[in-house]
Amino acid sequence: MLELRDLSCGYGDITALRSLSLTLDPGKILALIGPNGAGKTSTIMCLAGLVTRHGGEILLAGKDISNLPARARPSLGLAIVPEGRRVFAELTVGENLIVGGHTVDRLALQRNQARIFEYFPRLRERRGQHAGSLSGGEQQMLAIGRALMSDPKILLVDELSLGLMPKMVDECYEVLTQLSAAGVAIMLVEQSTERALSAADHVCVLEAGNVTWQGSATAAHQNKEVIEALLGTNTG
Ligand SMILES: Nc1ncnc2c1ncn2[C@@H]1O[C@H](COP(=O)(O)OP(=O)(O)OP(=O)(O)O)[C@@H](O)[C@H]1O
Ligand SMILES: [Mg+2]
Repeated sequence: MLELRDLSCGYGDITALRSLSLTLDPGKILALIGPNGAGKTSTIMCLAGLVTRHGGEILLAGKDISNLPARARPSLGLAIVPEGRRVFAELTVGENLIVGGHTVDRLALQRNQARIFEYFPRLRERRGQHAGSLSGGEQQMLAIGRALMSDPKILLVDELSLGLMPKMVDECYEVLTQLSAAGVAIMLVEQSTERALSAADHVCVLEAGNVTWQGSATAAHQNKEVIEALLGTNTG
């Protein structure tokens, strides 16, 4: 579904990611973990077309999308749940969902909204409420719902659990599990190694822009000390 070949990206002279190669199959969850400044968000934003690619290739279902502008990527099945959620505070829950569905027709809009309200009944209850009045956990649900409005094949989720009550995190992860069972490929950025290891099929550790460890979740469990040591080196 998604293949990265030697992907590098950054900001002018600053390199945020060096030579990341991986494949992500339909229905699989890949966790990208690493300390602050490791390049996790830059990677996600580069896939979305919002951070400059310095080299390498991004293939989506075999098609090279490396040079496509950001605005062309959602309709190809790529959706993002950004770091910090970034819901539109002044718009209602329902309006935020409509914004997320700008690439689909009216019928799909209604169908997707109904499905999202099934995933997150709290959003249905609060559909007429301003997004800014929601709790952090509810805003995260809305950010996920907004991304799902475009029927993504690949969902990029940046820092799902950060700052949220564990119960809300559990509810969000439950939905991600259902999505992956339905065939959506998910790339998950997490600060919580525990969460990442328990949800993911594949784990990739980044440190200062370099890939320092990559392997299956089973291998990650077996090498937990190694991974924690890698993360500990830079988190101090
Ligand atoms: N807009 C920007 N301009 C210049 N450098 C940036 C910019 N955004 C990020 N960087 C740099 O790129 C590197 C990677 O940052 P990035 O935000 O991708 O890390 P991260 O792993 O998501 O960290 P965090 O866990 O804090 O969210 C850091 O050195 C950071 O200072
Ligand atoms: Mg980040």
